[in-house]
Amino acid sequence: MLNQEIVKLLNEQLNKELYSAYLYLDMANYYADQNLSGFENWFYVQAQEERDHAMLFRQYLLNNGESVVLTEVAAPNEKYNNFKDPLVKALEHEKYVTASINNIYEAAMKIKDFRTMQFLDWFISEQGEEEKNADDNIKKYDLFAGDPKGLYMLDNEMKARVYTAPSLVL
Ligand code: FEO
Repeated sequence: MLNQEIVKLLNEQLNKELYSAYLYLDMANYYADQNLSGFENWFYVQAQEERDHAMLFRQYLLNNGESVVLTEVAAPNEKYNNFKDPLVKALEHEKYVTASINNIYEAAMKIKDFRTMQFLDWFISEQGEEEKNADDNIKKYDLFAGDPKGLYMLDNEMKARVYTAPSLVL
């Protein structure tokens, strides 16, 4: 059994991860509409990873005998004004998710819930990677996407991203 406040936070995080998947799918759709299939691929893979994150929270709750509470997932409702826009919004979103994970970690630490802290350790380092990847995308865009040829090459690089299952297995 887990502390019920922690359970609430974990269920909320599950929803936030599903929303992340929804948000990145929306970005993939935007790039598909713009015929940038590499950027589309990058965000489609990202959406798959976010779904995996949600399932890890689900499994952790179940493994601890807690009920999983699914709530409504909000529509992304984002407007993208240019090709760089989703990249910037993705980094902002990852910073928001990092803060959310840190918040659960802090709550777990306060009540000495070492098991949840250990579970969240994977997400703490994953968020470091996610923020770096999002930041790298912005930097590459600024460096290389200034002309059609550069954009084409960057799109090809983004096309190479492949989905891999999370290294954390519960
Ligand atoms: Fe699940 Fe991108 O954090």
